Amino acid sequence: MIQSEEYFEMLKPWNLDDLVDHIMNTHHAYLKANYPLILKLIDKLENTTQSDVIKEIKTLFTEFTDDLAIHLVKEEEVLFPYFKKLAESKSAGSKVEAANFGSLSRPIEMMEEEHDDSHHIMDRIKELTNNFTAPQDAEPSIHFLYFKLKEFDDDLETHHELENNLLFTKASVLEKELEIK
Ligand SMILES: [Fe+2]
Ligand SMILES: [Fe+2]
Repeated sequence: MIQSEEYFEMLKPWNLDDLVDHIMNTHHAYLKANYPLILKLIDKLENTTQSDVIKEIKTLFTEFTDDLAIHLVKEEEVLFPYFKKLAESKSAGSKVEAANFGSLSRPIEMMEEEHDDSHHIMDRIKELTNNFTAPQDAEPSIHFLYFKLKEFDDDLETHHELENNLLFTKASVLEKELEIK
């Protein structure tokens, strides 16, 4: 897997428009393909040697996915289309209407808070699973679930780092540059 720092450097010069597409096509697509799969795996493991831990993982991961579904809708249906409008306005030299949510600072703050909340839930899962390490004698399917949870957590970290530190920053800079009031 490409190192996060290298990945970040590669994406730094990208324009806002392409970055939005990239995040949707890679990280959002990854989440949408993998969280239902993980929920299915969890459901199949409720009667295994690790059943107590699995039950707790299920509660936490379900809370996580319920919040995530709403978060993705806010980004994909409200925020990201507005980012695209900003990018379009810059390249066409046209004017863009202010969004009905006003300046970007509040919704961005809200997205960042939601990212933090999701990391807190994943951190609890990480603790519960001994840093995603299954006991050696656990069933292979449990090892696989822990492997998938680790992969999921890594992707989420990268995804949120990209949004907080690159995407949202670029959008705020462009909003100022276009003097949207
Ligand atoms: Fe996102
Ligand atoms: Fe996000």
